[in-house]
Amino acid sequence: MSQLFVCTVEELPDGEARKVEYTPDIALFHYDGEFFAVDDRCSHGNASISEGYLEDNATVECPLHTASFCLRTGKALCLPATDPLKTYPVVVKDGNIYITVSEEQ
Ligand code: FES
Repeated sequence: MSQLFVCTVEELPDGEARKVEYTPDIALFHYDGEFFAVDDRCSHGNASISEGYLEDNATVECPLHTASFCLRTGKALCLPATDPLKTYPVVVKDGNIYITVSEEQ
């Protein structure tokens, strides 16, 4: 496991997201003071989840076919997606945001 520095807390305001280039790409969200990281590619198709719509209760709607996912668990909450998104632990240290990733990815 290693920690991937993404940006500072100030660089990702509440309600915003950013795509983190990695293999695979990761979507990082700031929701109501908490940070969540999930696979950027939708489990249903070729859409970037970081371009989706952040909604109540830390959920995100895919911009392509409007499936919804829980950012805490990655679970698909409605069709057409049925498979979850992988989630990644996020650590905030000294105002910097890190995503914990496996080195063998
Ligand atoms: S690509 Fe995301 S719901 Fe279809």
